[in-house]
Amino acid sequence: MNVLVIGGGGREHALVDAIDRSPLLARLMVAPGNPGMEDMAERVDLNPADHDGVVAFARDHDIDLVVIGPEAPLVAGLADDLISAGIRVFGPNASAARLEGSKAFARDFCDRHGIPQPGFARFDDHTAAISHINASYGGTGCVVKADGLAAGKGVVVADTSDQAIEAVTMMLDGGAFGAAGASVVIEDRITGTEASLFAMVDGTSAIFMGSAQDYKRAHDGDKGPNTGGMGAVSPAPALNDALLQQAWDEVVLPVVAGMKQEGNPYQGFLYCGLMLTESGPQVIEFNCRFGDPEAETILPRLKSDLLSAMIMASDGGLDHTSMRFVDHHAVTVIMVNGGYPGDYRKGAVITGLDEKSGDTIVFHAGTARDDDGAIIANGGRVLAITALGQNNDEARQRAYDRVSRISWDGAFYRRDIAG
Ligand code: GLY
Repeated sequence: MNVLVIGGGGREHALVDAIDRSPLLARLMVAPGNPGMEDMAERVDLNPADHDGVVAFARDHDIDLVVIGPEAPLVAGLADDLISAGIRVFGPNASAARLEGSKAFARDFCDRHGIPQPGFARFDDHTAAISHINASYGGTGCVVKADGLAAGKGVVVADTSDQAIEAVTMMLDGGAFGAAGASVVIEDRITGTEASLFAMVDGTSAIFMGSAQDYKRAHDGDKGPNTGGMGAVSPAPALNDALLQQAWDEVVLPVVAGMKQEGNPYQGFLYCGLMLTESGPQVIEFNCRFGDPEAETILPRLKSDLLSAMIMASDGGLDHTSMRFVDHHAVTVIMVNGGYPGDYRKGAVITGLDEKSGDTIVFHAGTARDDDGAIIANGGRVLAITALGQNNDEARQRAYDRVSRISWDGAFYRRDIAG
């Protein structure tokens, strides 16, 4: 099979690594990819926003499957255009990707299908939103979300109603996220432990794709600004078998059935961000793709053939299979350019990448080559270092041992992942 992966971050490196292990694979291409993938896949210079260009490339290169990694091209309908051209795709169409692309759609959908979630209300109007905050959350906090995609920055967890009003004003009046913030969802704050549950879905059936807990804050002790993720551990420590079953029955299966019933069959990875509350799992958010860095944490634990399952998800027939994982635990530490998620310097040469140590993998996220071919730190999140171990402590120790051998001017990482 000839496979084209769309994307160029750590998640796509982990996907390429897993697809590369498939006996079904003939040729693997990635657009645009990153230097870490060069020994597994041919990098191609394609703009995912140029749907006609991607379709033409897939036709010209006899691509049997296009795997779309990030949310933006999914929400923009790249899958729709490929499917219209008769090209097999792994990933939801634009209508189904609204589970991530519109927070209001996701909340209304859960409401219609009795899927557990916090109380919420949706507003386009600034005055009405502020009245609601004052009436419902006077003196207490709430969560304010921009309705659309906002590159991971569209969620404000407000401790006070003043902070919530500030967030609403920034989104609705200040145009902070453009069209994505022209509508907001205001939600109750819920408490508990967070966990992420992943499924692969073929429109009708879902199979388990692992669980993880990510570390969203920039600094140790869960301090500092929210990031795309500074590390992760898999399996999610808080998601025991009973809670996993409950989340599967009360969230994953109703999502799959509800989307199908509404004429929006969902196909691809389904990422359920959950809060494990005293009354059971509740949905914090859905994402229409694998997590990043959760993909880098979960996929190294996968024993089954990912490509074969993706083909089944695209064609239908996932009910005939399941994914097997090693019993080992995995820990991922993200190395970033200091300053991320704010301003940071780019371009320092990374050293130590070849100093391998047992049961560890280095996934590239924000790397590039300089004019001399050296690998440089070229993004906020630069590398994802994953280690496997018999338990979290062993995996953690191995991951940090590998991290300690890698350096560049300005490198930063949390020291308490899985701690
Ligand atoms: N790790 C969070 C995300 O992928 O959205």
